[in-house]
Amino acid sequence: MLNAAPTDLTGKICFVTGACGGIGASTVEHFSALGAKVYATDIASEFDGPAEYRPFDLLDEQGLQGCLDWISDIKPVVLFNNAAIFDMGSVLDADLASFDRLFGVNVRAFYAIMQATAQSIVSQESKGSIINLASQAGHRGEALVAHYCATKAAVISYTQSAALALARKGVRVNAISPGVIDTPMWKDVDALFAKFEGKEIGQKKREVGRAVPLGHMGSPEDVARVAVFLASDQSEYLTAQTIGVDGGNVLR
Ligand SMILES: NC(=O)c1ccc[n+]([C@@H]2O[C@H](COP(=O)([O-])OP(=O)(O)OC[C@H]3O[C@@H](n4cnc5c(N)ncnc54)[C@H](O)[C@@H]3O)[C@@H](O)[C@H]2O)c1
Repeated sequence: MLNAAPTDLTGKICFVTGACGGIGASTVEHFSALGAKVYATDIASEFDGPAEYRPFDLLDEQGLQGCLDWISDIKPVVLFNNAAIFDMGSVLDADLASFDRLFGVNVRAFYAIMQATAQSIVSQESKGSIINLASQAGHRGEALVAHYCATKAAVISYTQSAALALARKGVRVNAISPGVIDTPMWKDVDALFAKFEGKEIGQKKREVGRAVPLGHMGSPEDVARVAVFLASDQSEYLTAQTIGVDGGNVLR
């Protein structure tokens, strides 16, 4: 039977974290343009996009709890679990303060938000799709990026465990592993590589773009379009997967 209806998110309640960032903001726009009712959060006090917005600091216990309470009120059936921070350091110098910050946002808050959304979808006996943001850095350690790589490996592992636990309960769980995407995060990443590798500002960003098999960095829209597919019923037989949006950087 031919089933190639256009992708449509009409009526779906979607929740997006990290909405003020490059990938988050683009995903809010895509979800909304396709008919979803979008709720969004980030740490900034205001957000300029087509979503109902509330600020929460996910590293702060009260902030995280506020976010979880909001999830149980709005009852999303799609989660774009995207907020994260980056830092550099090898195992010789990456300290526990950096570990606590990165694991606090990228793993602890990420997990709590995924759990709250899953509980809400299951309690409504509804169907849902959880989309976690991993990274190409989660598939292979990097000498100078110890903590961040470990947090993204955890995202991939939790995606698989959650997908298997929720498979018979109507909830699909997948991850996207971006490669190098031109977003505000890259300003920090580039500056850190300049410091750690003695490069000029902008040099690392140019180098990683040229090294991508497709020849350039990705855009936030490249990720948002895959998020739309995972949010929609077009991907209804897809769960427990981590999809690379990386121009061919990682071969699985
Ligand atoms: N840009 C890339 O090249 C790339 C590559 C691989 C993976 N990723 C992943 O994609 C996702 C989005 O990345 P991006 O490039 O859009 O980054 P970004 O920095 O533009 O956006 C991340 C957002 O998370 C928010 N955030 C961070 N700490 C927070 C906190 N304590 N409380 C609430 N919000 C907080 C930030 O304010 C920011 O708006 C992240 O999970 C990132 O790890 C990005």
